[in-house]
Amino acid sequence: MKILSVIGARPQFIKAAPLSKELRKKFKEVLVHTGQHYDYGMSPIFFQELSIPQPDYNLGVGSGSHAQQTGQMIASLEKVLEKEKPNMVLVYGDTNSTIAAALVAAKLPIPIAHVESGLRSFNRDMPEEINRVVTDHLSQLLFCPTETAAENLRQEGITRGIHNVGDVMYDALIFYKKLAEQKSEILKNLILKPKSYLFATIHRAENTDKEAKVENIFQAFGESAEVIILPIHPRTKKMLKQFKIKTPRNVRIIEPLGYLDSLQLQSNAKKVLTDSGGIQKEAYLLKVPCITLRNETEWVETVKDGWNVLVGSDKSKIIKAINDSRPRKNQSKHYGYGSSSKKITNIIEEYLRNNA
Ligand code: UD1
Repeated sequence: MKILSVIGARPQFIKAAPLSKELRKKFKEVLVHTGQHYDYGMSPIFFQELSIPQPDYNLGVGSGSHAQQTGQMIASLEKVLEKEKPNMVLVYGDTNSTIAAALVAAKLPIPIAHVESGLRSFNRDMPEEINRVVTDHLSQLLFCPTETAAENLRQEGITRGIHNVGDVMYDALIFYKKLAEQKSEILKNLILKPKSYLFATIHRAENTDKEAKVENIFQAFGESAEVIILPIHPRTKKMLKQFKIKTPRNVRIIEPLGYLDSLQLQSNAKKVLTDSGGIQKEAYLLKVPCITLRNETEWVETVKDGWNVLVGSDKSKIIKAINDSRPRKNQSKHYGYGSSSKKITNIIEEYLRNNA
């Protein structure tokens, strides 16, 4: 049996690392990289550090408008799927690579497995929300990371193929955290002591593309008394230049990080500031309080448990959250037990056996 997995952006490489290992124990896996992320620090570093098998195809699509990028992926993926004729196409998360692969597979038709299914921000201004909703409604196997995600799908009328398998990023975190502790030299290189700094990331278009929002966020950072380490996404770098925003002195901008350095910096931070989805959850699992620079989150459990607070780009809310030193509550196993990759592989095997 042949599974064709499609990846293209940073978080998808991290999710593919543990799952690809498991899938290859039972199936032939063909790995396709769309080329959505391509810089060394955005793509190749993840394949090296996480020992992800080299992709069988790299479509080299690169950046562009949503329609251009997604359209090019669709055209190229169709050729690959027609040639490879897989028994199932596996897609991850909510990027343009995800929706492109799902659309092509659905029309051939080839069954689709969606990893990280059912997440919702209920904000259709986010391109990711459109990508998720469409992909979920085209998929035969919907692998949800949480019970909230599974319930979201039921609310949308999906009745078949929903499986709460826990979060595959938790599998990755458990495996690579030990490696990060052994191998990462990022604290030494940046001359940082544990718990002496905040770790920040900003990349969402809803923040980076609005001058007032970027300005508010950086002003809030500048008015805090903390050292803030900010690995910069290429789009954020471009927009800071375009808006002529000066970096405050307490903010240290560094190049994008690989997964091991990122885990190491996060787990030793006093707090995390982010608009990423994956990092909110990583912070929770690493027991580091998180401040989310958005008005809604798909990872509602992190907020309910008191480990995450939504502040949008509101300057006073950001500063208040940075200074808040309330103790955090106990955590629950919302994201499973780190055995998601095994569960997904077994469910796919059973599905293919029954639908051969
Ligand atoms: C994408 C996903 C987002 C995910 C994120 C993870 C979509 C719609 N969004 O956002 O869900 O959270 O990946 O990081 O798919 N660029 C480079 N070098 C690269 C890659 C990108 O310079 O290697 C620059 C380009 O200017 C590009 C911009 O970053 O236009 C945005 O990249 P893109 O892949 O469109 O979206 P992300 O913001 O990375």
